Amino acid sequence: MGKKQTVELTLYRYAGKFLFFRIKNRCTECDITYVILQRLMNEQLHGKPVSLRIVPWLDNFWKVIWRGGWHAPILTVNGKVFSQGKVPDIPKLLSKIGKILNDTSLIQQEKMQTEKAVSSYEESEITVYFSPACPHCRQLLAYLDGNQINYAGRDVTKTESARQDVERLTGRLTIPVVVVKGEVISGFDINRLKDRLGISAGDEKVVKPDGEKMIPQFTDRQFEEIYQNAKAVLDKNRIDAWTMPSSRLYPHLWNWDSGFIARGYLHYDPERAYTEMRSLFRGQWRDGFLPHIIFNPEYTHHFPGPDYWKADNSGKVPSGIFTSGISQPPVHATMIVDSVKLDPDKQRALSFLKEIYPKLKKLHDFYFTWRDPQAENLVSIVHPWESGLDNAPLWDEPLAAITETSAWALSMQEKYDKIAEQGERPKRTYIEKYSYLIENMFKYNYDWQKIAENHPFLIQGVLFNSILCRSEIDLGKIAETLGYDAGMHYERADKVKTAINKKLYDEAEGIYYNFDLVSRKHIKRDTIFSYMPLFAGIPDKDRGAKVLNNLRAHCFCIADMDCVAIPSYDMCQVDFEGEFYWRGPVWVNINWYLAQGVRQYGETELSEWIEHSLIALADRYGFYEYYDPDSGRGLGEKDFSWTAALIIDLIAQKLRSEK
Ligand code: GLC
Repeated sequence: MGKKQTVELTLYRYAGKFLFFRIKNRCTECDITYVILQRLMNEQLHGKPVSLRIVPWLDNFWKVIWRGGWHAPILTVNGKVFSQGKVPDIPKLLSKIGKILNDTSLIQQEKMQTEKAVSSYEESEITVYFSPACPHCRQLLAYLDGNQINYAGRDVTKTESARQDVERLTGRLTIPVVVVKGEVISGFDINRLKDRLGISAGDEKVVKPDGEKMIPQFTDRQFEEIYQNAKAVLDKNRIDAWTMPSSRLYPHLWNWDSGFIARGYLHYDPERAYTEMRSLFRGQWRDGFLPHIIFNPEYTHHFPGPDYWKADNSGKVPSGIFTSGISQPPVHATMIVDSVKLDPDKQRALSFLKEIYPKLKKLHDFYFTWRDPQAENLVSIVHPWESGLDNAPLWDEPLAAITETSAWALSMQEKYDKIAEQGERPKRTYIEKYSYLIENMFKYNYDWQKIAENHPFLIQGVLFNSILCRSEIDLGKIAETLGYDAGMHYERADKVKTAINKKLYDEAEGIYYNFDLVSRKHIKRDTIFSYMPLFAGIPDKDRGAKVLNNLRAHCFCIADMDCVAIPSYDMCQVDFEGEFYWRGPVWVNINWYLAQGVRQYGETELSEWIEHSLIALADRYGFYEYYDPDSGRGLGEKDFSWTAALIIDLIAQKLRSEK
């Protein structure tokens, strides 16, 4: 018997440093290759004796240059250069691996792919896969039309086979894709296209993009009208002393929602803002924990309800109140820090701050005491829902690693399906894990120490810790307003900031990532949440510039793309889904944070574009829970409270700054 064969793949990405040189730019091919290889490892190569190493090219260039590899991305297979300077041919790669491992299923991939690909090339010399909404596609089509180049267009929104072709040809679901003279080009890569088509600079007709990025403008009257419509949404959703996120799907009181809602009320009815906060903190547990839902006893149809959470068994819930057993990001201090400034009745504002300050402090103390198991000044969450970003791609890997499921989840899904739109909400596989995590918590009666020691989901999140950091600063400001000592808050904020910069920042990539305390790895997903430290002033000036460069280099519609506002997930990722909750759509609260963040680092125009785009969305489509980044179509719940509240905040600030 021969020695068992293994395959070692090494990807040299365009990144790293050597002597005085440091690579600052990103390379799209490297990013695509990275995503595809990760995906192959999880799918076709899963369980096979194949390992993947990803290394910065410039730190390691001398290791491959003598093997002929000089143009990143370079992929080596067992040390030999397989491809360079472009996204590798995936069927060929699988076939090569198959030959080394003597694995016929992999070897056949190449044959299958070639047969299928050839048949579509025959249709036309140039085939373009596009969707009408994708900005890069529009640019590409305009370029081809403008230069009178014939092509066969295939709209991926119309035919499933076009979507499948894209995936088959590129290994991902990103458009545009051009198949030109047998070569597959991903994205609008004008130079490669010209090269393949033999267009020289002199012959080329330059086509202007179909409209520059315009900052939507409003008259004061329009602002006033949108403002009044937003107020009507809050009025509609307010019952007694608090406000539902929306009346259909969210008939209870939600933690961070109420924070955002209070910010809206501060501008026109501060008393309501204070009442909202009082109602929320009624549910604060004895240890300072603030649940993500305080249940409205009049609605029994929400699932999972109080009976499922069994929070009462903890012995920490105030009597007569029903709550969930997980929390949400502590946005509150930031949302009410301007009470004295905005309330015409300063005494009333001061007495509210005096009343709420000890509760906020107790909440922040809770996080540092019970949610920082390794005393790193980084708070960890115990459930994806605690992040507020329920089904973001960030949780895919940590959830996939959990093997236990909950049979009960099935019944929950059935109830859920009845009230939620199909396709826009998390699917059953996720729900099973979500409920397993809840069951694991009530098993320990919400004893946080035991949970930290025995829980399969513990994540130090970038968004959560950035929000906490900013809230500590704002709690310090509240303490100062009240004449209290603010030192401890500023110190704590500083410690969180240092910890985020130290542990959650990836120097080579220039980006912040969540850290998974269970697998002890960073979660390298390109979501918009990586950019939230800007809002809390966490990176210094240089690092801030680097982070902004990254934001521009990714597909977040910032450089030359023109979507309706910033999507929650990088649009060039294979699993970007523009209509699916936290996996792509535009969310108003996240854009609101981002607009403030980029402004702090000098990007005034971008900030204004984001804020005005949000107002335009609300004006055009209404106050939705989230929006499709391409079309702007409102999705999820209609008349959603935090959307209305933050639009009120934006308009109020704009009108004030005009005066
Ligand atoms: C969803 C969102 C969460 C929000 C809640 C109520 O669960 O993911 O962030 O707080 O709805 O609006």
